[in-house]
Amino acid sequence: MWISLIGFMGSGKSTVARLLGERALLPVVDLDREIVRREDASIGVLFRERGEAGFRAAEFAAMDSLPPQADLVIACGGGLVTTPAAVTLMRDRGSVIWLDAPWETLRTRLAAAAQAGDDRPLLASRDWDAARALDASRRPLYARAADFRVRTDQTAPDITARRVLTRHVAWQRQRAVAGL
Ligand code: S3P
Repeated sequence: MWISLIGFMGSGKSTVARLLGERALLPVVDLDREIVRREDASIGVLFRERGEAGFRAAEFAAMDSLPPQADLVIACGGGLVTTPAAVTLMRDRGSVIWLDAPWETLRTRLAAAAQAGDDRPLLASRDWDAARALDASRRPLYARAADFRVRTDQTAPDITARRVLTRHVAWQRQRAVAGL
């Protein structure tokens, strides 16, 4: 069964996925890295050469290529929820967890990452008002896609990972009781 972590850029998906994988002894797939490996091109190059729609197609293809029955933790890119087929896929194959933090926290983390030279084409202009609007526009998509939401600004990442695992196990039990 997949455990898919969704949420805006900077919400902590990659960090929590790694810690969750260690804790639950599950392999972790960072979808951005998987795209780069499959396409043999950076996220920046994919956006530039294929546009956002081309990147989204590569992103969906990367998720669709993952083994359907495998036990996996997946750190999804922040925009994957804008592809409805990807949401259907992740919901069909396991639990979907929204990692969330208030905009100010996200902005602080993203500004630090930008300073360190990350490869996020949607933040290349450092237009934080536009980024905030993007976060606001995506929140309903995260809410609709997720089975539950866990905040990442109130606890250390390893505690957050533990919380995610506890919620996932409870979700799995409920489904088993319901015969799903
Ligand atoms: C994107 C988020 C990025 C990456 C790409 C687009 C987005 O992943 O997939 O730059 O549209 O929000 P992270 O959320 O891991 O930064």
